[in-house]
Amino acid sequence: MDLDSQVREIQHKYKIVGRSAELKKILIAYHSRKNILLEGEIGTSKTTLARAFSAYMDKNFIRVDGSEDVLSHVLTGYFDPPIVLEKGYNEDAFIYGPLSKAMKAGDVLFINELNRLPESTQNVLLSALDEGFLDIPKLKQLYSKNGFLVITTINPRAHVGTSSLGEALKDRFVWLNLAYQNEEEEIEIIIQKLTDFLIVTGSGIKKRSIVEIEILKKIATMAAKISRITRNHPNLQRSASIRAGIDLATLMLTYIINHSNALPLETVEFWYEAAEMALSTKIELEESSESSLKDVIHDCVHSVLKDF
Ligand SMILES: Nc1ncnc2c1ncn2[C@@H]1O[C@H](COP(=O)(O)OP(=O)(O)OP(=O)(O)O)[C@@H](O)[C@H]1O
Ligand SMILES: [Mg+2]
Repeated sequence: MDLDSQVREIQHKYKIVGRSAELKKILIAYHSRKNILLEGEIGTSKTTLARAFSAYMDKNFIRVDGSEDVLSHVLTGYFDPPIVLEKGYNEDAFIYGPLSKAMKAGDVLFINELNRLPESTQNVLLSALDEGFLDIPKLKQLYSKNGFLVITTINPRAHVGTSSLGEALKDRFVWLNLAYQNEEEEIEIIIQKLTDFLIVTGSGIKKRSIVEIEILKKIATMAAKISRITRNHPNLQRSASIRAGIDLATLMLTYIINHSNALPLETVEFWYEAAEMALSTKIELEESSESSLKDVIHDCVHSVLKDF
């Protein structure tokens, strides 16, 4: 099967909206035996794409979240002292870690926020990445099985609580940038989430099945526009991801389902309240901002609602 067909199959099977070019690059990197660094703002589908790729390739997705607690033995594995006392330093006594496990099985090791790993842990990855082996003292040199791949992420603006990403380590990845998707695709992602939500909760919009899809579309469009508008707002240093749009749309849908005759536009007040609920945890004011967070959110909601 050619690459484009594989991309379509991944999109279809794992409900990925858009991202054709990016999925294709991931496949090309994999077939070129290159490890991948995904760089993108919050919510730009880094985890979603890596998971879908792993599932499509029938590989386990072994996830590590970068933090200062992930010391090198956490990644490589360690000997269990009581078993060592009983049986010595052998395979039975060794507890594999995510790195050694993935290397042994030819699986995907997904490291979220690589730059949050302590430098000593980053160093352990070096030989595994380019030579495909890991030295496990007192046990063996572990060579990775064909197909072993590291996919890692960094957030372009991550600086708090992160050690710098070593050049040697960075050098061992190919890079893929994930920008925000366009409005149409974000709307489609939100509609998909709302549809899943209705199925999971079993709460269809009663007696309105014909207009149901129109209502979902309207809610998704408004929610997407409100979250997107934060991205150009001069008073914000952190703006809303797609998750804000999804949360806002879901709150609105729930409100509407539970107010029997409400239509999206007859619920103006709740749009402001739902936006505060959905956005306040996901955006941050510029230090110099003279408006409050609430004002900024109301501003964004207002500028979208006035056009509807
Ligand atoms: N292209 C897409 N198709 C379908 N769903 C998507 C897409 N992009 C994002 N989503 C949805 O948006 C949410 C955020 O995506 P995801 O968790 O993959 O982002 P991320 O880049 O890993 O975010 P973070 O930086 O916070 O880890 C998820 O619920 C995911 O299902
Ligand atoms: Mg993620």
